[in-house]
Amino acid sequence: MHGTEGELSRAAERLRRASRVTVATGAGVSAASGVPTFRGAGGLWNDFRPEELATPEAFARDPRLVWEWYEWRRRRIAGCAPNRAHEVIAAWSRRYPRFTLVTQNVDGLHERAGTRNVVRFHGSIWELACWSGCPPGERWRDERELPEPPPRCVRCGGLARPGVVWFGEPIEAAVLRASLAALECDVFLVAGTSGVVYPAAGLADEARRRGAFTIEVNPEVTEATPRFDLALQGRAEDLFDRLEKELSSGSRLSSSQ
Ligand SMILES: NC(=O)c1ccc[n+]([C@@H]2O[C@H](COP(=O)([O-])OP(=O)(O)OC[C@H]3O[C@@H](n4cnc5c(N)ncnc54)[C@H](O)[C@@H]3O)[C@@H](O)[C@H]2O)c1
Ligand SMILES: [Zn+2]
Repeated sequence: MHGTEGELSRAAERLRRASRVTVATGAGVSAASGVPTFRGAGGLWNDFRPEELATPEAFARDPRLVWEWYEWRRRRIAGCAPNRAHEVIAAWSRRYPRFTLVTQNVDGLHERAGTRNVVRFHGSIWELACWSGCPPGERWRDERELPEPPPRCVRCGGLARPGVVWFGEPIEAAVLRASLAALECDVFLVAGTSGVVYPAAGLADEARRRGAFTIEVNPEVTEATPRFDLALQGRAEDLFDRLEKELSSGSRLSSSQ
């Protein structure tokens, strides 16, 4: 059985001894904040699959429809707050001498929790980019409600697109470099991702090959579960809280010795 006290202590022991820690998060970490995961998103958009909306082809076909979906998600996320998992990860980012968070989430909740050294693997829903011919790579932030989607490029007045990575699009070179550098670590902990979206899903395997102790946090058994050194079965908001308690009780013990 996973997520038992014994396994939790083993994970905490590894974390206690580590100085280089990388955490990789997916949509499940934001679930307790009220941000729907892609699987079982519910509501108005149940008739559409993300794979049919989050692609360059879908945007070329119907930019307004794609923007309406993003705007619906943006407004929903705007009303959400970081949960205990975001808070604990933020605390670790300040505590460990070398810490990186690689997140697939585009919601910005890790940043709002105060996490340092965040690598946004799939961009941000709060950024926009030009679709129409401005040099690639330039993005601007706009958190306001978009009155009349689709919004326009602030430079050329052409069509703007969400500043996220869509299915079939490459990961930015600088982001990939930062993620690869973060594979060199003592503990690589993956939380809340179904482990099916590549190349993000391959990071834990590569970190393990390079000598990291790998841990998975997920309420479900995923395709990737058997490949981790340790799998903690449960919700991120509960397990990070329990790990943090275990870690701080351990440090109290050692400081009183
Ligand atoms: N919050 C966001 O920014 C957001 C939301 C949906 C999708 N996305 C994007 O969609 C892609 C989907 O991939 P994905 O793997 O991140 O998400 P996913 O929707 O494919 O999988 C979510 C995973 O989270 C797990 N989960 C559910 N509740 C959890 C909890 N409380 N604690 C821990 N785990 C929990 C599920 O078992 C599942 O394995 C990502 O690339 C991401 O960019 C982002
Ligand atoms: Zn432009």
